[in-house]
Amino acid sequence: MAKITTSKLLKMKQQGEKISTITAYDASFAKIFDQAGIHAILIGDSLGMVLQGQDDTLPVSIEDMAYHTQCVRRGVENTLVISDMPFMTYATTEQAYTNATKLMQAGASMVKMEGGAWLVDTIKGLVERGIPVCAHLGLTPQSVHVFGGFKVHGKTQEQANKMIENAKALEAAGAQMLVLECVPTPLGKAVSERLSIPVIGIGAGVHTDGQILVMHDMFGVSANYMPKFSKNYLAETGDLRKAVTLYIEQVKNGLFPGPEHSFDK
Ligand code: KIV
Repeated sequence: MAKITTSKLLKMKQQGEKISTITAYDASFAKIFDQAGIHAILIGDSLGMVLQGQDDTLPVSIEDMAYHTQCVRRGVENTLVISDMPFMTYATTEQAYTNATKLMQAGASMVKMEGGAWLVDTIKGLVERGIPVCAHLGLTPQSVHVFGGFKVHGKTQEQANKMIENAKALEAAGAQMLVLECVPTPLGKAVSERLSIPVIGIGAGVHTDGQILVMHDMFGVSANYMPKFSKNYLAETGDLRKAVTLYIEQVKNGLFPGPEHSFDK
């Protein structure tokens, strides 16, 4: 497989080819995913929950993210490496510049941040300074305490319209990818159709341009619980490498996520 770049992912969207992505936090798993042909690896701040055993992602620090980004980078040859900006490390544009630099210097090729139109100036500034950005809308776990729990977003027409507006503003600011988490399938489809950049869904239905799963969910080893939108591919295949290959194949052929992993409304 050739090196995956943001332009390659954009081309895949234009050609209707599905993008498969997954989280990883260390070199060994990153290598398995890279060799299986995963298009992008996210060092998610989900590491707070799946590695550290925290109740949410808020305690994760920029040092944690930089450390795990270095680990993943050492295992990867071709896959695009995206690293999460943790809670309150991009509350101001200046903070975002300082902290995104740490992740890029640790080996990320793109940083991800959660939020809507309030991020427009920050994204514009980062991209102008050479840092590619992946935006994240829908259920943005760093705001779990504002939302009052982990739940489906964009259920009313008004909320859906607002999310589409936010997505367009983030794209116009220069975001080169969007993660869309826990939204009804029709909204996942609408956002993907309205944007030119790849939209990667998690619990956003089958019509997004690609999918992402937290690796611990895909292997059925998450400490807390198995979200409805995930699938235990290890249980189905009995082998780590076969599990990843089957996930990539099912994303490619539109077989994952099925209706049982999606939200109708
Ligand atoms: O932190 C993470 O793993 C994420 C994914 C769930 C998209 O943001």
